[in-house]
Amino acid sequence: MTDTNNSAGTATLTYGDKSVEMPVLSGSTGPDVIDIRKLYAATDAFTYDPGFTSTAACESAITFIDGDKGTLLHRGYPIGQLAAQSNFVEVCHLLLHGELPTAEQYEKFERSITMHTMLHAQFDRFFEGFRRDAHPMAIMVGTVGALSAFYHDSLDIHDARQREISAIRLIAKMPTIAARAYKYHIGQPFVSPRNDLNYAENFLRMCFAVPAEDYVVNPVMAKAMDRIFTLHADHEQNASTSTVRLAGSSGANPFACIAAGIACLWGPSHGGANEEALTMLKEIGTPDKIPEFIEGVKAKKYKLMGFGHRVYKNYDPRATVMKESADEVLAAVGDPNDPLFQVAKELERIALNDEYFIERKLFPNVDFYSGITLSAMGFPTSMFTVLFSLARTVGWIAQWQEMIGDPTQKIGRPRQLYTGPTERDYVPIQNRG
Ligand code: SDX
Repeated sequence: MTDTNNSAGTATLTYGDKSVEMPVLSGSTGPDVIDIRKLYAATDAFTYDPGFTSTAACESAITFIDGDKGTLLHRGYPIGQLAAQSNFVEVCHLLLHGELPTAEQYEKFERSITMHTMLHAQFDRFFEGFRRDAHPMAIMVGTVGALSAFYHDSLDIHDARQREISAIRLIAKMPTIAARAYKYHIGQPFVSPRNDLNYAENFLRMCFAVPAEDYVVNPVMAKAMDRIFTLHADHEQNASTSTVRLAGSSGANPFACIAAGIACLWGPSHGGANEEALTMLKEIGTPDKIPEFIEGVKAKKYKLMGFGHRVYKNYDPRATVMKESADEVLAAVGDPNDPLFQVAKELERIALNDEYFIERKLFPNVDFYSGITLSAMGFPTSMFTVLFSLARTVGWIAQWQEMIGDPTQKIGRPRQLYTGPTERDYVPIQNRG
C-alpha cells in the first residue's frame, strides 16, 4: 500500500496564528480523508476522536461498508451475492488474495486448508487445564494465543511465505479448536476432523458427532453454517479488527494478534451481542411483553441487543440474509413457529416503526437473528461468539496481512488529551495530611 491515492485537493485548518494546509485523499469509493499526519508538527496540537467516529486509521482494499445505503462489499462483491452464490472457503480466498479463485486455484486453496485442520497432539492437553464450566470464549482466547507456542516455523512476519502458512493454519484450525472448546464444555470426547468433508460439514461433525453412532451432516444445516461463516468473515475496521491491526503493528506474531482480536470480539457491544440478543429475546418471552420492554429501552435501562451499529444507519445487509437463514433452519430442524423467532420479528416490526429508533437510525444488525438460527442448530448461547470468532479469523488475518505487507506501516501509538495533575513534588508519608 503506498500513498498513491488520488489527491482531492487540500483542507486548511486555522489554529491561533497558524494556518495549516493538509492534503485531501480520495479512495476508490466512500468518504475522502484529510491527511493530518503533519498536523502535530505544524500546530503542536492533536486531533481528538475517542471511539474513532471520524477517523480513518488505515488505507485498505478489502471491505467497504456504505452505512447510509446498508451495503457491504468484499473486494467489490456485495455480501448478498456472496451469501447466495459463493461459499466460505471461496470468500476466504477472495479476502486473502483479492480475487475469486479459478476452479484450479479453489481446489488447491481448499486442499491446503483441509490438510491443516488437525492440531498438534500435545495441544489437546491445553483444554484439560480449564474448568468444564469455563466460558468457551475464555478457552478460545487462551488456546489460540498458545498456537504461537507450537508453530515456530510460521512466526517470521517479514517472510511472506510464513505469513501465508500462518493464515492457512489459523483458518484451518479455528473450527477444530472451537469444536474442542464446545466438546470440553459439555464433557464429550473430542472428534477429529475428516478430509472428506467440506469446511462447514467438518465443523458440524466435530461439534455434534458422538462415538456411539455415525453422524450424518444435515445439508440444510451445513449450508446455513457455511452462509453464517460468510456473513461474519470481515467487516472493515471494527473494534476487533482494529485490535488485531494495533497488536500486529508492534510486530507481534499472527497467532497472538488473532487472540487479541478474539478477546475484543467477546465484548457485548461487539461480537458478544449475539449471545446477549438471544438472552434478551428469552427474557421478553412473548410478543405481548414487547411494549413494556421497549419502554425500558427508551428509559435507557438497557439496550436493544442486536440493534444499532456504529456504521450502518440502515438495515445491516447481513441481518437480511441471517433472517432468511433463520427461516430455512427453523423449517428444516427447528420449530417454524419458534416463539423466539416470532418475538424477534414482532420486536423488529415495532422498533422499526417507533420514532425513538427511527430518529436514532437503529436497525437490526448481524447479531439480531443469528442467535435464533444457531440455537435451532443445536449450539448453546455460550458458543455464539465462538462461531463469530471462527468466521472472523479470515477477516482479521487478511487485514493483518494487508497491514504487515505495507512498507510504510508504523507501530500504532495514539496520543491523548491529558487532564491529570500537572507536575508536583513527592511528599513523604509522614508529611501527608
Ligand atoms: C457488531 O463495527 C462493526 O462493524 C461491528 C460488527 C462486525 O461485524 O464487526 O458489525 C459486529 O459488533 C454489531 C453490533 C453488535 N452490538 C449490539 O447489537 C449491541 C447493541 N448495540 C449498541 O451497543 C450500539 O448500537 C453499538 C455499540 C453497536 C453502536 O453504538 P454507537 O455507534 O457508539 O452509537 P451510540 O451508542 O452513540 O448510539 C447513538 C444513540 C444513543 O442514544 P442517545 O444517547 O443519542 O439518546 O442510539 C442509542 C444510544 O443510546 N442506541 C441504542 C442502541 N444502540 C444505540 N439504544 C437502544 N438499543 C440499542 N441497541
